Amino acid sequence: MLNKSQTLTDFLLHEEITSPPVNGSLTMVLLQIENSVKIIGSHIKQSGLVDILGKTGYKNAFNDEVQRFDDLSNTLLVTTLLSSGEVYAVASEELKEPIYSKNKGGDFIVCIDPLDGSSNVDCNASLGTIFSIYKKGDNILQKGNDQIAAGYVLYGPSIMFVLTTGKGVNGFTLDPSIGSFLLSHSNIIIPEKGSQYAINEGYSSNFTNQTKKFLKSFKSNGAKLRYSGCMVSDVHRILIQGGIFLYPADNKNPNGKLRLLYEINPMAFIINQAGGLAVSDGIDPLTILPNSVNQTMSIVLGSKDNVKIYKSF
Ligand code: AHG
Ligand code: MN
Ligand code: MN
Repeated sequence: MLNKSQTLTDFLLHEEITSPPVNGSLTMVLLQIENSVKIIGSHIKQSGLVDILGKTGYKNAFNDEVQRFDDLSNTLLVTTLLSSGEVYAVASEELKEPIYSKNKGGDFIVCIDPLDGSSNVDCNASLGTIFSIYKKGDNILQKGNDQIAAGYVLYGPSIMFVLTTGKGVNGFTLDPSIGSFLLSHSNIIIPEKGSQYAINEGYSSNFTNQTKKFLKSFKSNGAKLRYSGCMVSDVHRILIQGGIFLYPADNKNPNGKLRLLYEINPMAFIINQAGGLAVSDGIDPLTILPNSVNQTMSIVLGSKDNVKIYKSF
């Protein structure tokens, strides 16, 4: 007996009545993202069979090698969003500068990490897409607290669409037989504490004393390490099971690696909405006015108790 039957579209139509700022225009943008990620997901599911793997041969603004899959995901999302008529500008991890709609119409700014964890592409491990939506303002650069919606898609054993519009967090799982995302995880709350941590511990010799001391203490209490190299997958695990995700600044990368607009702000918004905490350089990342679309920062987020303990070191 099928007991999950509310589609993402049904959910958004209901939110339009009960939860402003969700309205027809925002629903349209979210459904354009939904369509794009279904196509990206379908390509991912066939990735060992069709000629799509490998590198493009060029680098993005972050000096990352751009994979062909990054390029495909970026082109698909940017084109779909800009053709919706609702989107004024798209800023993407794969673009040096934001792209604006032709007639400068549209009310929304959408920031995207089209493919997250792209080093996993060639080895068939988890991938994601991250998005963050703002109202058009005087400037593309706005504080994370100004996001009106954010979410991610996890291309795992099943494909999940996790969304917040500022009223909690809901998760939808793609039913491939009907091609729809169905509400499967209603009102997700992150456990108050957990015993898992996600960090690239290969960099431990460069960690700051705060990170070293925190990890030593956490491990002495039996903590387990789980790290996939895909933020979406690692944060999703923490969201569901509790614990802490860290990509701290270290002695080699004093500004961290993860991008404030494309990765940190959407994830921090989601984690906050689920009852967790996020911290970048000792403060709430959502209060920071970005100085560039390419700004990177440290990020530690997850269960409230774990992040509070991290801050206390
Ligand atoms: P992207 O594939 O969008 O460049 O993101 C990769 C990010 C993030 O997903 C992950 O948490 C982190 O980079 C992994 O970096 P390390 O390989 O340095 O651990
Ligand atoms: Mn990423
Ligand atoms: Mn990416």
